[in-house]
Amino acid sequence: MHFHTQKSSPVPSHFDAINRMRIVKIIDAKTENCTVKTFTFVDKLCEKAEPGQFVMVWIPGVDEIPISLSGITSDGLTSITVNEVGEASRALNQKEKGGSIGVRGPFGNGFVPAGGNVMIVGGGTGLGPMMPLTEKLVKVADKITLMSGVKSLDNLLFLDRITKILSDVDSETVFTTEDGSYGIEGLVTEQVEQKLMNERFDMIYTCGPEQMMYRTFLLAERYNVPIQASLERIMRCGIGLCGSCAIGKIRVCKDGPVLNSEQLRGIKEEFGKFQLDLTGKKIKL
Ligand SMILES: Cc1cc2nc3c(=O)[nH]c(=O)nc-3n(C[C@H](O)[C@H](O)[C@H](O)COP(=O)(O)OP(=O)(O)OC[C@H]3O[C@@H](n4cnc5c(N)ncnc54)[C@H](O)[C@@H]3O)c2cc1C
Ligand code: FES
Repeated sequence: MHFHTQKSSPVPSHFDAINRMRIVKIIDAKTENCTVKTFTFVDKLCEKAEPGQFVMVWIPGVDEIPISLSGITSDGLTSITVNEVGEASRALNQKEKGGSIGVRGPFGNGFVPAGGNVMIVGGGTGLGPMMPLTEKLVKVADKITLMSGVKSLDNLLFLDRITKILSDVDSETVFTTEDGSYGIEGLVTEQVEQKLMNERFDMIYTCGPEQMMYRTFLLAERYNVPIQASLERIMRCGIGLCGSCAIGKIRVCKDGPVLNSEQLRGIKEEFGKFQLDLTGKKIKL
């Protein structure tokens, strides 16, 4: 009897390579505000990442969680910006320079840069992936309007970085806080509406709390502006296998996390309304 054995290829496919866990050393850990830290490490596979893509970050002994890239450079210097909300993000934010984490990725579909008059809407830590996106947009867009909404002055992020990135281009910035402690008092979506009433935009990019993105999506639809939104769901595998990130027919890790207007229309029964919890049960947002 003949047995056909197939030797596994010694060269891993691109997918095998990005899905393989790399242990990386934290070369910088910057405290951004009372609950947010930015970690920088070197990873060759992340240097080609698109803004909006994410990595699965393993905190040894705790958990593995999805985090978007907040810094992408051509020499592999990569950053993630992490808000403490629970066990894994708290353990991650206790790491300091010299510590180690594991990363898989970059995964998913990122933002597609557009020309013309573009609007960026970031809520809280959702501003993270908007930083490398803005760095790309300054090369192709005619004008950039960056809107950032946070709860309070203490939660502000990336002020210096935004000023630097936008210094040489036609741009406008709008900062809102819910308590009025910095910028305009209220929700960022109120300012989004004001802008859309007075100016014609060619594309809106958004990342942040789902209610903020949902309202921004409804406004984009009303004013007939295409939108790209980066969604968050519970993620386990990060590669389209486990189903924990499903929303309608979409697997956010693989088809997203950035979804365009057409994809968002296809999930409007669930977007802004429901998500799966850690056990896979559908719960109200
Ligand atoms: C594609 C993607 C990119 C992300 N990028 C970032 C980022 O750049 N920076 C950042 O700080 N966070 C980001 N997140 C959210 C981050 O993954 C969660 O905050 C983290 O998994 C929570 O884990 P935990 O153990 O700290 O909290 P848990 O103890 O698991 O949960 C604490 C609270 O957070 C909620 N939560 C748990 N998982 C998520 C989730 N995936 N999204 C939203 N809420 C959640 C829970 O419902 C609970 O209320 C991203 C999520 C996704 C899916
Ligand atoms: S996280 Fe497993 S399918 Fe998306």
